[in-house]
Amino acid sequence: MTRDARKRIERLRAELRGHDYLYYVLNQPEMSDRGYDKLFAELKLLEEKHPELVTSDSPTQRVSERPVEGFGAIRHSVPMLSMDNTYNADELRAFDERVAKGLGGRDYDYVVELKIDGLAISIRYEGGRFVRAATRGDGVVGDDVTNNVKTIKSVPLALLGEVKLPDVLEVRGEVYMPTQSFVELNRAQQQEGKRIFANPRNAAAGTLKLLDARITSGRNLAFLAYAAGEMSEPLGEEHQQVLEAFKKLGLPVNPHIERAKDIDSAIAICLGWEAKRSGLAYQIDGMVIKVNRIGQRDILGATGRAPRWCISYKFPAERVETMVESIEVQVGKSGILTPVANLVPVQLSGTTVGRASLHNFDELRRKDVREGDTVLIEKAGEIIPQVVEVKKQFRPSGAKAYPIPKKCPDCVSKVVKDQEGVYIRCSNIDCPGRLKERLKYFAGRGQMDIETLGEALIEQLVDTHLVKNFADLYKLKKSDLIGLDRMGEKSADNVIEAIRKSERRALARIIAGLGIRHIGGQSAEILAEHFGTFPAFMAASEKELVAIEQIGPTMAGSICEYFHKQMGLLQELLEYLSPPPPKTQRTDKLAGKTIVVTGSLENFTRQQIKEAIVQAGGKASSSVSKKTDFVVAGESPGGKIDKARRLGVKVINEKEFSDMLGDKGR
Ligand code: IVH
Repeated sequence: MTRDARKRIERLRAELRGHDYLYYVLNQPEMSDRGYDKLFAELKLLEEKHPELVTSDSPTQRVSERPVEGFGAIRHSVPMLSMDNTYNADELRAFDERVAKGLGGRDYDYVVELKIDGLAISIRYEGGRFVRAATRGDGVVGDDVTNNVKTIKSVPLALLGEVKLPDVLEVRGEVYMPTQSFVELNRAQQQEGKRIFANPRNAAAGTLKLLDARITSGRNLAFLAYAAGEMSEPLGEEHQQVLEAFKKLGLPVNPHIERAKDIDSAIAICLGWEAKRSGLAYQIDGMVIKVNRIGQRDILGATGRAPRWCISYKFPAERVETMVESIEVQVGKSGILTPVANLVPVQLSGTTVGRASLHNFDELRRKDVREGDTVLIEKAGEIIPQVVEVKKQFRPSGAKAYPIPKKCPDCVSKVVKDQEGVYIRCSNIDCPGRLKERLKYFAGRGQMDIETLGEALIEQLVDTHLVKNFADLYKLKKSDLIGLDRMGEKSADNVIEAIRKSERRALARIIAGLGIRHIGGQSAEILAEHFGTFPAFMAASEKELVAIEQIGPTMAGSICEYFHKQMGLLQELLEYLSPPPPKTQRTDKLAGKTIVVTGSLENFTRQQIKEAIVQAGGKASSSVSKKTDFVVAGESPGGKIDKARRLGVKVINEKEFSDMLGDKGR
């Protein structure tokens, strides 16, 4: 039996690795996500049954189950040097002259690569297996980030065997965060009152150094290989051959790598990318030019810190001048007052910029930005507009320093300085400005997802005192809404319906939506999983909270403070919200049954009903056949019903299905 299991496990691993490669490295998936998940689930189950067969390079081991304890140090067997920078074509030509001189008349060529804005790591493979990974650190000793790097899907845990697998291969490359993921991460961080990363490099570095690999795994890091460290045997005489060998080993290599016969072609490639770079899905901060032949690199050698055979060409950050029309203060959902500059709109790196955050009042003081000032703006990491410099020589006479507010601009309550002393907050928990932000967050996509409850409507609901807290949303009647701006019968119906629908959101989303300080989507998931029901969560004590792995004392303290201040509101919300009950233990109530669902259901989303079927031991299928045991039909079912009738397959309604599960909670 174990032999069969071993064979099947190996087969599954090979297949999954192949699909990982197609998906993450080549971007050419051949299998549906569902098909992949099925193979993965089968492997996981087999490994659970045969723990002795689990190996560290199995695809199931990408997410470490336990947080790592801190980072050990790893000494690089070949030092990781840094690179000299250039900023213009003349400097590149001077580099080329040094290379020509160093090579004493030999012919040479270059390879030009994108300089990805992430952080360098070194991954060690032994016998083709991922062994460990380290950051560059000081170039000699780096941090052991093995567990976190293992979660990066484009990093193979086992090399492919199309070429002979080297005994030792250290692969060096860049870990980075694609722009889209960076923007989404920052949005989530902001909503959770956590630190905003200035650029994708900081985000990638911060993510790689998280102590909990599960969080790393949830953030979308990627990897591209561009050099070899220690090698038991050479992979080629030219850099291009090394990269080709990497590809054959299943390692991700950037497709935009070009050979240049001389420095002029290299310069042309660099300038070309300077113009095209905004079209990439990740940030680059320049280009890297490398001598192609490995033997020639050895001749050129290195200065103390950087090799003489490569150089970076750094793009200038795009900056433009504009004028500050006004400065206003915004109140965030946690009451933080943020100064924001309204700018005369300008084009910058592909978008129109009309506002720039001034972050906080310390920063505003330091930069001394005033209304009417001419300022230079730049996108931090090409994304977030920032004021980098004030052109004081153009300051209009009489422009005054912006005063630090003593009162909240929304509710004129007094403000208090945060413990850390940087932020200023409105002291009024019922501040309407703050309430609006809290409601926007509550109704937002990752939380209660009340689609029709947009910003303009929230403003009106608060300004007309119809809504003073979250619970008031659920008391709204159609007649309350009609008469508000742009609110006809139909829109009012839609709003009420969307609010009704949100009453059944999962507990994790409700907890996230409350906007408790330090509690974001991820911690909300953990809390929901731990407590299962809303009342159980509400009854949690500080002691119980800190006992949960992942919930630190700051979070626990913040939750208790929220309970203390808002218990009345929570009690009220409890009356309206009915999240689905926690997932129950697997049962065998539907064992061996193949079930098809059609039409829209009242109490289950598609995903939820599928989960319910699987949990009860059944199989959820998408098409009706003779093998189907029964069809669950909701409202406006499609042609599946007809087919079921034709084949004589039993059709039941949602209630009958719930009764079968004995799930009275729904
Ligand atoms: S080669 C001896 N190639 O740039 C240096 N580096 O500023 C070998 N980087 O620490 C590095 N893209 O993190 C190389 N295609 C690329 C790169 C690249 C980004 C980073 C790397 C390095 C930094 C130096």
